[in-house]
Amino acid sequence: MNPWHRLCALSALLVLTGCSGAQSALDPAGPQAGRILELFSSYFWICFGVYVLVLIFMLLGASRSGALQKESPRQLSAQDRQSPINRTLAKFVGAFVFITVVILFYLIVADFGTRRAILSLAAAPSTNSPTIQLVGRQWWWEVQYHSGASSNQVTTANEMHLPIGIPVKIEMLSRDVIHSFWAPNLHGKKDLFPDHPTALWIQADRPGTFYAQCAEFCGLQHAKMRMVITAEAPAAFHRWLDAQRQPSKEPETDLQKIGQKIFLSSTCIMCHSIQGTHARATLGPDLTHLASRPMIAAGSRNNVRGHLAGWILDPQHIKPGAHMPQHNFNPEDLRALLAYLESLK
Ligand code: CUA
Repeated sequence: MNPWHRLCALSALLVLTGCSGAQSALDPAGPQAGRILELFSSYFWICFGVYVLVLIFMLLGASRSGALQKESPRQLSAQDRQSPINRTLAKFVGAFVFITVVILFYLIVADFGTRRAILSLAAAPSTNSPTIQLVGRQWWWEVQYHSGASSNQVTTANEMHLPIGIPVKIEMLSRDVIHSFWAPNLHGKKDLFPDHPTALWIQADRPGTFYAQCAEFCGLQHAKMRMVITAEAPAAFHRWLDAQRQPSKEPETDLQKIGQKIFLSSTCIMCHSIQGTHARATLGPDLTHLASRPMIAAGSRNNVRGHLAGWILDPQHIKPGAHMPQHNFNPEDLRALLAYLESLK
């Protein structure tokens, strides 16, 4: 295989590996994304067919123009225009114009049909459908679950859990600029505006971990505004929700107790809240169950000790422009603080 062929094969492989997985519109995990994929497939194959036809006629034309150039140029006479071959050509062009109009009309109808189908999926929510309030911020997601009394409210950040087989309503709002929620395995994009609520119904039909991404340029860290979505059986979902509803765990070890004191006496409480303590600020993510989250910094890093320490000491290194400032904890204080934060399951 020559180097050029190898490069082509490698590129094709890279493109194909990007077509499935936890963040792909070509691997739908719910009915809404399934309908969108059907629409995409009809657009793709029709456009592919038209592209191949255009290429064939272009090559035919190129090969014939070479032959025509050898003949001496002459004016078309009235007799030429009336010749059977030109009449056939006129019919041919007419037929293709007609086919083009039919294709465009079909694509418009398919587009409207998909929209109607997606809206009808939202029309029959079950009584146990949870409602999620999603708030976009520079550059993270606040996720709240509402069900009945306000004491039942759950607030988390950069993660969403969905019960499979149940449609879930997501009400959206932004606190600053326009963001856009996009979980390609589950639905198309939906913008979040300041002072203008929008909503979306999604449903996951199989368990799995998926990723959502902000899809509207919203500033310096737009690319690091991700979210982990866990789709699980309804029983597991309710177990998770019940655990999230609990106030934070009381520190058990001496180190954790020192860590809590450091947290509650430092500037951390100017932005964060931990339910069950006097930390009640809402500028930054709620940390009540921080240790139960798979990732930190809106999907930028795995939630492990090294990354958490790096994030606390120098968040600007991980996400330049993030609203979290740098902190100068001495090593002992940092160790205690990490022990406390890691106990917040
Ligand atoms: Cu938020 Cu891009």
